[in-house]
Amino acid sequence: MSARRIVVAIDGPAGAGKSTIARRIAARMGFLYIDTGAMYRAVALWAQRLGTSLDDHLNLEQLAIAADIELRSNPLGVVLNGEDITELIRNPEISQAASKASAIPGVRRALVEKQRAMGAVTSIVMEGRDIGTVVFPDAEIKIFLDAAAEVRARRRLEELQAKGQGGLTLEAVLKDINERDTRDRTRGEAPLMQAPDAEYVDSTENSIEQVEERILALVRARTSNGKELHK
Ligand code: DC
Repeated sequence: MSARRIVVAIDGPAGAGKSTIARRIAARMGFLYIDTGAMYRAVALWAQRLGTSLDDHLNLEQLAIAADIELRSNPLGVVLNGEDITELIRNPEISQAASKASAIPGVRRALVEKQRAMGAVTSIVMEGRDIGTVVFPDAEIKIFLDAAAEVRARRRLEELQAKGQGGLTLEAVLKDINERDTRDRTRGEAPLMQAPDAEYVDSTENSIEQVEERILALVRARTSNGKELHK
């Protein structure tokens, strides 16, 4: 007997805690975690290495189509054309380049197709900007995870510092986040927005644990056969 496939879509601006929350919900439910931002980052890294301009839409689309992107869950990682790029895509330069590449309709088409294929096989928790609106508009559970910009910047700064990236200031990270969010929210193709049937969750005042419990309760309420693996 095959269980019903469930899609949990988590969208929201940079630094809202989507990755942490999505990973935890996936582990608790026994679902596959899919970080779609990592896919846009992978294409941006490839373009950077090839010296392809971010204005060269046709070539960027070709890279997105050709990219062999694997999202590993254990250990968590991103593999591009056979190379582990997990750490290489986590820096402010790639963040901005990914945001720019993601505004190109052809790049989005190519990656959305890959995302739908990944989600067609098993129950998933997929996070990004357009999962509940475009990639899986019929997702069983849609969350829009938000937080005040200063709080998101502080969290992102701590994350980058923990990875040994020094020399960054809160102001610089805040500027980076605001710039990226404005671009992601105002682009013509699949802009970041809350789906009308998504639950708005604000993590400004709440701990990761509190947000996790709230979302888990929503997931449980709307799924009849999701199994929890660990407490
Ligand atoms: O989630 P992230 O910060 O890793 O995403 C990097 C960029 O990729 C983000 O600024 C916008 C883009 N993105 C997107 O347009 N659609 C998605 N589903 C995920 C990310």
